Amino acid sequence: MKIVVAGTGYVGLVTGACLSEIGHKVTCVDIDENKVTMMKKGISPIYEPGLDELLKRNYEEGRLDFTTDYKNAYKDANIVFIGVGTPEREDGSANLDYVFKVCEQIAESVENNCLVVVKSTVPIGTNDRVEEFLKEHVKASIHIEVASNPEFLAQGTAVKDTLHASRIVIGVESKEAEEKLRYVYEGFNQPIVVTNRRSAEMIKYASNDFLALKISFINEIANVCEIVGANIEDVARGMSYDKRIGDKFLKAGLGYGGSCFPKDTKALHWLANDSGYEIKTIKATIEVNENQKYKMFRKAKQRFGSLKGMKVAVLGLTFKPETDDLREAPSIPNIKRLLDEGAEIVAFDPVGEENFKKKFNLPIEYVKSPKEALKNADVAFIFTEWKEIKNLDLQCYERLMKTPIIFDGRNCYDINLVKDHNIDYYSVGRKEVLNCNLCYNN
Ligand SMILES: NC(=O)c1ccc[n+]([C@@H]2O[C@H](COP(=O)([O-])OP(=O)(O)OC[C@H]3O[C@@H](n4cnc5c(N)ncnc54)[C@H](O)[C@@H]3O)[C@@H](O)[C@H]2O)c1
Repeated sequence: MKIVVAGTGYVGLVTGACLSEIGHKVTCVDIDENKVTMMKKGISPIYEPGLDELLKRNYEEGRLDFTTDYKNAYKDANIVFIGVGTPEREDGSANLDYVFKVCEQIAESVENNCLVVVKSTVPIGTNDRVEEFLKEHVKASIHIEVASNPEFLAQGTAVKDTLHASRIVIGVESKEAEEKLRYVYEGFNQPIVVTNRRSAEMIKYASNDFLALKISFINEIANVCEIVGANIEDVARGMSYDKRIGDKFLKAGLGYGGSCFPKDTKALHWLANDSGYEIKTIKATIEVNENQKYKMFRKAKQRFGSLKGMKVAVLGLTFKPETDDLREAPSIPNIKRLLDEGAEIVAFDPVGEENFKKKFNLPIEYVKSPKEALKNADVAFIFTEWKEIKNLDLQCYERLMKTPIIFDGRNCYDINLVKDHNIDYYSVGRKEVLNCNLCYNN
């Protein structure tokens, strides 16, 4: 069976590499020549733990290949997985241009009976439209069918999540399509949930939006904790023993970012609205998240009035640890606000620096360690809970900063440990620690 994956981003490349790891022969297609050249050298174009090794091994052993030549790839494919991006449009709806571009390319190339599997996150009803489009446009007289197979991996643990997935969701309209996909996934030995295509599409949005809602919920509880004198870490711990609640996605902070939750909440909200239903929980989730992003910035403004001329150490740029992805990272709008204020920024991120430099041409100094960033800084802002930052000895802040004042947007440190240091510490949903009582005059 010839499997082709369209798109070698976080989803496509990890899917391709993992399918080859269980013995399938897989060709990955991308339009980005640089990416394909890198992958052909055995180098992953994205940072994802374990991916380099998987890619290199399966490429060298001949099960995995990369190409920009989509015509040859799709010509005799039995299954094509579509894993291209579905970014948000300005109005919040999902942009399906990349998906339909791949469909055009499949339609002009395919010569065999083929199952097209949509892995990209797409609005409910898209798989039906994709099938109609393909049936209308294929040149050869072949049988072409579409199945939905949404992806649930998380960046930072994508390889592990794929090799040991909680479930595989298959949305099909025929027994034949179901059997083909069961065969593809046999080697993973994971639970398979079979539904129709529309339910599969909805499972993806409902799952992501539920997790986003959980984050916004705990952030609102954290905000109330600050007012009433409770501690969000203790509250979340106490809640988590209840199996109905669980201990995941109960970490208060600056809210969710990344390539999925922000766009998938907006897309479902848009879709429901368009169908005449206002989905209030998701609307609130989006509003809370937008507001939460600036929580530390507001606290700093409250304390200092102006941040003009202050030297700010920014610790963490990516939207979460263990990824180089900056999409919707809270660091971005905060850094822009800090620069607008007239602050000088020295930034550290273990893997996000290159992407940040490429994407944003901002007057920032980049350094290779958190300690370098802290040297002579007036304040530190923490935007990502990288272990390099969490494991930093609190003495470093005392020793290296001009004034050890931390705005920790990710609750990296145990509040009881902070209390023993000469540090002013602001975090989320916990009492402020004001030990050094410094007065900053600018
Ligand atoms: N990133 C995640 O954690 C994640 C998790 C689950 C689901 N998803 C969904 O999966 C989809 C892909 O997300 P991603 O983060 O992997 O995207 P991405 O932006 O990282 O990668 C998309 C890739 O597709 C390529 N591409 C664009 N047009 C192409 C074409 N015509 N032919 C071949 N390749 C083409 C791009 O060059 C790029 O390499 C989205 O719908 C997303 O919502 C993402």
